[in-house]
Amino acid sequence: MSTAAENKLLTETGPGTPGGRLLRSYWQPAALTEELNGDRPVIPVRLLGEDLVVFKEETGDYGVLARACAHRRADLSFGRLEDGGLRCPFHGWLFDRDGTCLETPAEPEGSTFCSRVRQVAYPAMEHNGIIWTWMGDGPPPPLPGLDAFAAPSSHVFAFKGLWECNWLQAHEVGVDPAHASFLHRFLGPVEEEYGLQFRSTIGDTGVPTTVLMRDVPNPSIAVESTAYGFRLITLRPYGSGSTAGANNEPFTHVRVTNCIFPNAITIPMSSEIAITQWHVPIDDTSCYWYSMFVSYGDPVDSDIMRAQRVDAVELVPGDPKTYRPKTGRANNWGYDPVEQRDLTYTGMGFDINVHDQWAVESPGAIHDRTNEHLSPADVGIRAQRRMMLAAMANPGPDTEVGTADPASLRGPGSVDAVSRDPQPLSSTAVDDAWRSADAKRRAASSWAEDLAET
Ligand code: FES
Ligand SMILES: [Fe+2]
Repeated sequence: MSTAAENKLLTETGPGTPGGRLLRSYWQPAALTEELNGDRPVIPVRLLGEDLVVFKEETGDYGVLARACAHRRADLSFGRLEDGGLRCPFHGWLFDRDGTCLETPAEPEGSTFCSRVRQVAYPAMEHNGIIWTWMGDGPPPPLPGLDAFAAPSSHVFAFKGLWECNWLQAHEVGVDPAHASFLHRFLGPVEEEYGLQFRSTIGDTGVPTTVLMRDVPNPSIAVESTAYGFRLITLRPYGSGSTAGANNEPFTHVRVTNCIFPNAITIPMSSEIAITQWHVPIDDTSCYWYSMFVSYGDPVDSDIMRAQRVDAVELVPGDPKTYRPKTGRANNWGYDPVEQRDLTYTGMGFDINVHDQWAVESPGAIHDRTNEHLSPADVGIRAQRRMMLAAMANPGPDTEVGTADPASLRGPGSVDAVSRDPQPLSSTAVDDAWRSADAKRRAASSWAEDLAET
């Protein structure tokens, strides 16, 4: 539980707020690269409560400007992309991507008026399918050296979707490893075509992940501080206790997921792919998830991966809330009570993204943290809030985790591993299990071998 004052601190992200300052101390995703691929690469974006326009110049450089023209606040998302910048159609003022006013053509010949005008501008760059922007003070730092950035673009697929809630409750589902045993549970036979993420079997055990999640619903969860945020280690002992008699020798499933502070998570999707997902505020009551699917093995097939996801969202060019899921509060997230009785724990279909969407949207736009009961299993959520409050109380590289030297960050190791050491595992056995699984995956990778976190 948090106080009302803490909840406000944790959830407000507009300019001048402590939480807004914290998020602006990190590069943030502003758009997918694919959104700027059309004939006229200029789109309106709302980010951290600021209305912006993102555009791509003929040179291939990206710019982010305030959406309201510095002259009389006309909408620059209707601007003319020409002459080395974005020109406002109202009186023709021309701004370059640094916010410099290059021309005010309605003024008298020889006027120097434009030298006294600046448009709010933020540095931007494209990397691995996403346009990133830096809204913090001072010059932008380098991008982090983490796998999602270090991987070649051939091995990363990026996509996004809108959730109608504050970014933090979206992020908090990602640092809550216990929920997968319930929210994403399937009641029917696991061979059926659903739950891709949890349908694969765990290592050489022959046990499907979804079965393990269902049979061991009360994992032990530990938090370890890291240079980029924190690591969550979730242990599910199998083949003993309540799962004794299973056709397997006892083993412990070791799942490592990560918080890349403050607003991203990394989770393993399969033995080859990990997902790094940002939760970035549009404003305080809506956010986007941006997922980067990073393959340590073969290159990704972006066309297939996009086709699998694009039908679930409405694409509305010119709408800063595009990529809106077709399923949501307006249609009860697709809830079907018969399906809930017979097939899935939620009754909301087989797409786990929809389950997560219900979990984060149904508490309301800004979850009331004064009226909740955090349990011991919520250790990741407590760690997240503690780190955020510490950073807001005392801003700077000591508390804004990962900002001191972002290029030196590595990993994270985000893996499913198996240990057959005696249960309960010692901390050394836990460490050995996930680090050796991570090392094995990296040794077989064309790009990640030397990028393990220390
Ligand atoms: S409002 Fe943009 S040039 Fe006048
Ligand atoms: Fe989930």
